[in-house]
Amino acid sequence: MKRLRSIMPWCLFALLMTSLAAGAPPAQPEHAAVFARHAVAADHAEASKAGAAILAAGGNAADAAAATMLALGVVNPASSGLGGGGFALYYCAKDGSLTFLDFRERAPRAATGTMFEAEGERPEGPASSPSQLGGLAAGVPGEPAGIEALVTRFGRLSLREVIAPALRLAEEGFAVSGALAAMGSAFEVQLRKDPVMSKWDLQPGATLRRPSLARVLRAFAENGAAVIYGGLIGQEMVAAVQEHGGVMTLQDLYSYRVRTRVPLETTAFGYRWVTAPPPSAGGFTMIQSLSILEQAAGPTPSFGAPLLHAMAESWKGPFRDRQRYFGDPDQVILPLDKMMAPARITKRAELAGDGTAHPSADYDFPIEWTRTQVVAPDNAGTSHLCVVDAEGNVASVTTTVNLPFGARFTGGGIVMNDEMDDFASGIGRANAFGLVGGARNLPGPWKRPVSTMSPTIVLEDGKPALCVGASGGSRIVTATQQVAMNVLVHGMDAGDAVAAPRVHHQGVPEALRVETVAPLDAALQDALRARGHLIESIHNVANVQAIQIERFPERRLHAVSDPRKGGRPAGH
Ligand code: DON
Repeated sequence: MKRLRSIMPWCLFALLMTSLAAGAPPAQPEHAAVFARHAVAADHAEASKAGAAILAAGGNAADAAAATMLALGVVNPASSGLGGGGFALYYCAKDGSLTFLDFRERAPRAATGTMFEAEGERPEGPASSPSQLGGLAAGVPGEPAGIEALVTRFGRLSLREVIAPALRLAEEGFAVSGALAAMGSAFEVQLRKDPVMSKWDLQPGATLRRPSLARVLRAFAENGAAVIYGGLIGQEMVAAVQEHGGVMTLQDLYSYRVRTRVPLETTAFGYRWVTAPPPSAGGFTMIQSLSILEQAAGPTPSFGAPLLHAMAESWKGPFRDRQRYFGDPDQVILPLDKMMAPARITKRAELAGDGTAHPSADYDFPIEWTRTQVVAPDNAGTSHLCVVDAEGNVASVTTTVNLPFGARFTGGGIVMNDEMDDFASGIGRANAFGLVGGARNLPGPWKRPVSTMSPTIVLEDGKPALCVGASGGSRIVTATQQVAMNVLVHGMDAGDAVAAPRVHHQGVPEALRVETVAPLDAALQDALRARGHLIESIHNVANVQAIQIERFPERRLHAVSDPRKGGRPAGH
């Protein structure tokens, strides 16, 4: 492990957290813990415990990740669940392989490029437009197939064993967390209209049971994901989507397939960084930013205004590339090599390293490349968790229903996602995260929308050193990268690295965002303003879960759940 390279202004973070304005989370020293054998870091204590129980019962990291995802879907239906989808990056210790499972939702076959055109321009943030609320908002869920793929391909236990902790929580009930209560009260009016969600008491600390989801989990344990991609539960889901104005059919469910993809990777700052490929644009943003930073800030940068400035600048180009070139890799050809061409990175690094903030258009450097849509379909709210098991297998999983409570209706007892909002509603239009979409990311039959989710594993000398990822829309990748750099480049303690203030820039708008929940040091903000940045405040820059894997002098797993969301890690 690298040694501490710079003095940390964040060592006073606990103190700072106690003096935050009303509404900020209180200091939660339990957000970080050290384990010797195995560990799970999820954004809810019960979900971490469910994964840890599976590890203690002989399951491996894949089994435990699946159990944690299932438990999250029970205890925080605002953020993820069987009606959503996600990505998993899995490191197998036996052969050193890294596999990426894409169980992202995809559009129904009847989707068209103009289906959300009438929405027009709308402000950042959840709205009640058709791509976010109701039947058209819901993509075909990938989560059940993703969980099954993780367990059957890499796990050691049966689906029944892996589902057991979630089923127990759904049947016996659990205490409503502060995070769930806050989202419940924000969306109360819409939840009241759903026959399942209207029955929920979402006061903090109230006991919530989920009998209709327990029925689904029992059927899943008995007969696998096929019960959701067909059968009674599938029929109920399709009926609910259609009642809410959607176009999803049973054929869309039957035809859903998990994709195995080759992860993206780069080497930077002495580590091998392995992360999400398209349809995520997050992994691309991170590896391009790291390559730019190595040139703009040098191989051993220390924390401070010059690095924060260079980092903000390094994100502007990749976010522009996302807008122009990204779409479902099964349906559009992505010129990744051209986008990552060393000469192009050097041009961006020269700008990022010259000390002034540039308009994001300066970073454009369009690539010469004319091919457009050529591959035809072949008929065919968010949470991040990390697991490390005793054998050294690692699972880095990000799972989502997109906005809180997804499309805000249930089908077959399952909360349906609103992932269709991750498509562009029109060329040049922004989604709920202010991400401007291009032609390649218009909705289309069985197309997967572009994502920012960036489950990541960073390796040192061929062995995993860090599992990391986040929830938080466009902020996922910038937060993931900053936490990873805090640990690996600046040598920070993992708990402090997650709690430390973060910044965010996504090119559009031309503003560098700082957190109100963890404000960046005022002198640093002034130094960034002096370089030409317009500073804006947002509540928080994503929620990060991480496990740092120390191998010397002894094995230590530093498991951290972001205090911004109130989770707790678990392990042994
Ligand atoms: O795939 C994506 O990038 C978004 N659907 C993620 C949404 C998200 O992180 C919302 N949550 N906190």
